[in-house]
Amino acid sequence: MSNKVYIFDTTLRDGEQVPGCQLNTIEKIEVAKQLEKLGVDIIEAGFPVSSPGDFNSVVEISKAVSNPTICALTRAVKKDIEVAADALKFAKKGRIHTGIGTSFYHINYKLKSNPEEIIKRAVEAVKYARNFIDDVEFYAEDAGRTDNEYLARVVEAVIAAGATVVNIPDTTGYCLPHEYGEKIAFLMNNVPNVDKAILSTHCHNDLGMATANSMSGILNGARQVEVTINGIGERAGNTSLEEVAMAIKSHKDLDLETGINSKEIIKSSRLVSTLMRMPVQPNKAIVGRNAFAHSSGIHQDGVLKNRENYEIIDPAEVGVKESSIVLTARSGRAALKHRLQVLGYDFEPTELDEVYQRFLELADKKKDITDEDLQILAGREQDKSNKPLQLELLQVVCGKSTVPTATVRINFNGDVFTETAAGNGPIDAAFTAVKALIKRRVRLEEFLIQAITRGSDDLGKVHVQVEHKGQTYYGFAAHTDIITASVEAFLDAVGKIA
Ligand code: KIV
Ligand code: ZN
Repeated sequence: MSNKVYIFDTTLRDGEQVPGCQLNTIEKIEVAKQLEKLGVDIIEAGFPVSSPGDFNSVVEISKAVSNPTICALTRAVKKDIEVAADALKFAKKGRIHTGIGTSFYHINYKLKSNPEEIIKRAVEAVKYARNFIDDVEFYAEDAGRTDNEYLARVVEAVIAAGATVVNIPDTTGYCLPHEYGEKIAFLMNNVPNVDKAILSTHCHNDLGMATANSMSGILNGARQVEVTINGIGERAGNTSLEEVAMAIKSHKDLDLETGINSKEIIKSSRLVSTLMRMPVQPNKAIVGRNAFAHSSGIHQDGVLKNRENYEIIDPAEVGVKESSIVLTARSGRAALKHRLQVLGYDFEPTELDEVYQRFLELADKKKDITDEDLQILAGREQDKSNKPLQLELLQVVCGKSTVPTATVRINFNGDVFTETAAGNGPIDAAFTAVKALIKRRVRLEEFLIQAITRGSDDLGKVHVQVEHKGQTYYGFAAHTDIITASVEAFLDAVGKIA
């Protein structure tokens, strides 16, 4: 059996069904292009008969994307299949995904039919789809709760009718990993023509088992896995692409491979989260903000000595620059020293002991210790007059129906320079002007605005992190005007480059 596991991404179909996560066609194309970069094999682009918007998205994604197969969903209904075939007419490689419910619940209560009639309709749908396209996938909806003997008959019949892939969805997320694995093994061993098609997993996460079930399906012979970015999807979601891809990549002993370029994982996750307005939970495996963050002193010390002491995945492999060390009352000296070094402070051991004592006292009172707190603790809060880049003037034009524009004047060791730039907002415009003034290629890595208390007249604190030639520089500023604070923080960071 081949060791290649095909990655079928359904972020734009099953994922997009989530209330509030709807995307317009332009956004869907952006996601599809990122999925192509990520290396997915199949993109399920929509359910064309469901709406003109879905139809149009399948058409446009088919035009915009070259490598992955573009798949369109249908019910086992002739009209759906005709519309899907039409939507796929520009796809370089197209697939129709048709199917029908096969569980006792679906046959009796949803379809009000009987098992023989369902097999007949399944076969007819696959045959009809094959008139339009060579690649036809069949889904046995609610296969997770379908009797295995009956499911084997359905699978055999649809393969004989021309299905190239047969999807075994655990639609309700009911199965346990051993059960789902046994289901796939049963089909592999009892469907005589199973070698003529690929079995696919499609697991939902209602009991938190989606990734475990998908892996169990793969270990028992499935060679396609249906997934979404960040695990988004109906109810508790679908199997996460990033979890399966990294489980396969990390477990070399499985001798399996996918075409996923793991370095694109974080970018894909952030894009989907932003466009779908669906935050990723901080402790989410692989892509959560804390997935590579260490807060206990013992772990921080261990990671600084050798990352593999507490990490099974190098964050760089998924596109995260480095593990982060979160300073709390449980952090040790090594972590404090490391963060101070990032901020540009190097202490002798005795000095470090003193700073560490002050750090522990503060950490007992305050949950998280910020970089600004550390600067104060280090007794070296920067004297503004010492900064090489001083902001002399900042003028911004912004608001509804204007092009955000900023004029920035800086003083660099006595010489004054002015630049005006436009951007997608006042801060972007001002940063663009600063970049033009300093004539250095810098990449903004992090930008965080916080209010110190809660009033609208409060001081805004801004932290920025920029990258220049592989090196990270940190900047901070506080001001009642957050745009000024942002530009001063940016200048603080880029001023350290020299
Ligand atoms: O969960 C499911 O059964 C599905 C099918 C339509 C493939 O999403
Ligand atoms: Zn589904």
